[in-house]
Amino acid sequence: MPEPDLTNTQQSGAIPRHVAIIMDGNGRWAKQRRLPRIAGHRAGVKSVRRVVEQCIDCSIEALTVFAFSTENWRRPQKEVGLLMELFLTALEREVKKLHQHGVRMCIVGDRSRFPLKLQNRIAEAEQYTAANTALTFTIAANYGGRWDITQAVRGLGRAIERGELKAGEISEVLLQSRLTLSDLPEPDLFIRTGGEQRISNFLLWQLAYTEFYFTDTLWPDFGKESFAAALESFASRQRRFGRTSEQVERKEAL
Ligand code: IPE
Ligand code: IPE
Ligand code: MG
Repeated sequence: MPEPDLTNTQQSGAIPRHVAIIMDGNGRWAKQRRLPRIAGHRAGVKSVRRVVEQCIDCSIEALTVFAFSTENWRRPQKEVGLLMELFLTALEREVKKLHQHGVRMCIVGDRSRFPLKLQNRIAEAEQYTAANTALTFTIAANYGGRWDITQAVRGLGRAIERGELKAGEISEVLLQSRLTLSDLPEPDLFIRTGGEQRISNFLLWQLAYTEFYFTDTLWPDFGKESFAAALESFASRQRRFGRTSEQVERKEAL
């Protein structure tokens, strides 16, 4: 059986179906104002709310944001603790409103390291919003692209141990099905705020053909116009997925 094409067939001029964002620059935003770093993270939550609303308004199907990386445990213990508290209070405060807007919430990453209370709130938020269809809003927390691929491979290894799978049967499609976000279209647009131009172990597999957009704007300053500018940049690009531009212009079978 031929393998289905893994690439997304979105064409230029379009609205992305799935946007993935590294929300960076909260600490520098706070520093500029001589505020503690946590004040930047708090201001960042407001930007998340704005972008979620904008995604719904634009009929974007999926939004995935990087909230805490597997490497962020290296930060001072105090900041990590405050971030966990903020995650908990933001969940408690926002879930009802998100539900009213038809948002389905998913949290991806290794949640076993989180305080139990936070793990419970995460599970509740996911269950409560599971049937919603306006927007799938995924928060990557204690997430790493390498963790993601590793847990997928571990699952396949177990299937081999049980005799349910042969190594030769492992395909890109099968591995992809074990990754987080496997139920969503691949991200069309990746945005990183805060001026750095790196992936920082975000979605390594899933970004294979994503359009990248970097901005110096710090995450708490990322307003409606900033997101609109990113969408405009996306709409102006020609996605070729390995083909020539002539093929794409002739709309040859994708
Ligand atoms: C991103 O902002 C948020 C998290 C990583 C939790 P930063 O805290 O990395 O902000 P900068 O990069 O120090 O400005
Ligand atoms: C990436 O930001 C992770 C999140 C936004 C959650 P960082 O600020 O941690 O990334 P580096 O360390 O500068 O690469
Ligand atoms: Mg940073």
